[in-house]
Amino acid sequence: MDATAALGAHESQARPSAAEPSLPGRTCPISYRYSPEVFRRPAELATDTLYVVGGLYGNPFALEAVLARASREGCAPRIVFNGDFHWFDIDPADFERVNSTVLQHTALRGNVETELSHDDAGAGCGCGYPQWVGDGDVARSNAILEQLRDTADRWPQARRHLGELPMHLVAAVGEHRIGIVHGDCWSLAGWGFTQETLEAQAPAIESAFAEAAVEAFASSHTCLPVARVFRTARGPRALINNGAAGMPNFAGTHYGIVTRVATTEAPDALYRARLGAIAIEALPLAFDAAAWRAHFVQRWPPDSPASVSYLQRISEGPAYTLLHALRGGFERGDHPGLVVR
Ligand SMILES: [Fe+2]
Repeated sequence: MDATAALGAHESQARPSAAEPSLPGRTCPISYRYSPEVFRRPAELATDTLYVVGGLYGNPFALEAVLARASREGCAPRIVFNGDFHWFDIDPADFERVNSTVLQHTALRGNVETELSHDDAGAGCGCGYPQWVGDGDVARSNAILEQLRDTADRWPQARRHLGELPMHLVAAVGEHRIGIVHGDCWSLAGWGFTQETLEAQAPAIESAFAEAAVEAFASSHTCLPVARVFRTARGPRALINNGAAGMPNFAGTHYGIVTRVATTEAPDALYRARLGAIAIEALPLAFDAAAWRAHFVQRWPPDSPASVSYLQRISEGPAYTLLHALRGGFERGDHPGLVVR
């Protein structure tokens, strides 16, 4: 899905696409859209420690790692899976395991779950891919979704349930309100929280914090992490996109990333920003990368759409670094006190 985009983002920026925005995989359905004002409501959950786990992508090893990491917290965190927890899990046993485990926690639907919930192929994978993502990546994502829908067909009730999950959520951490989305503050499959568009979108995002009455947005979807603090007239506001929990996010690495928002700091955070009494952090999510790669290859052989789009990233990480992710205002975990401007 969105990951492919990530993988090819840089190389494909100079590659013009002939695709029309209305084509499957490019389109953003009207039903995906909302106004930032929808977040102006009471918080649905309150906690001192929140995990936002986007882009699990059907990786059962990453799922186990999330639960294990959560069990090491001083007090149990609330875990929100903010969409695209399904993707590579075309094996029925994987699908059932991911689905049943995730739904024991709070879950939002991403474009994958939304498109799995019905039979209309008009939106393809629902990724809403921008022009800098190549047509081949888009076509392969649509093909993956079709295969996954064949697997999900075994559980019609579960498919319907996925379509009934919310698109967004408001969480209170301490005294602070966090808007949790899959894409961005305007759409389930929005690409406004990605490094390619962040600077251009910055004024609109600053306004959206005020419209939404939240101090931070936590997202995923674009499959590459981004973190930035905005200095607004009402005070600092933060945006954090965890990239992917179920795939590597940086070149030469194999760990996923989970967003942690809490009244305490985690000792292993990759980077963090403080908003008053809370810390907003990126946690590295280590899982058995060799076992996951073998698991993936067994289910997605060479030349399959997922192998062509993702095997290199699963093996070596994407062409993206931690410095790409930090857009300002966050402090690196290994360089306390050094705030990226
Ligand atoms: Fe997505």
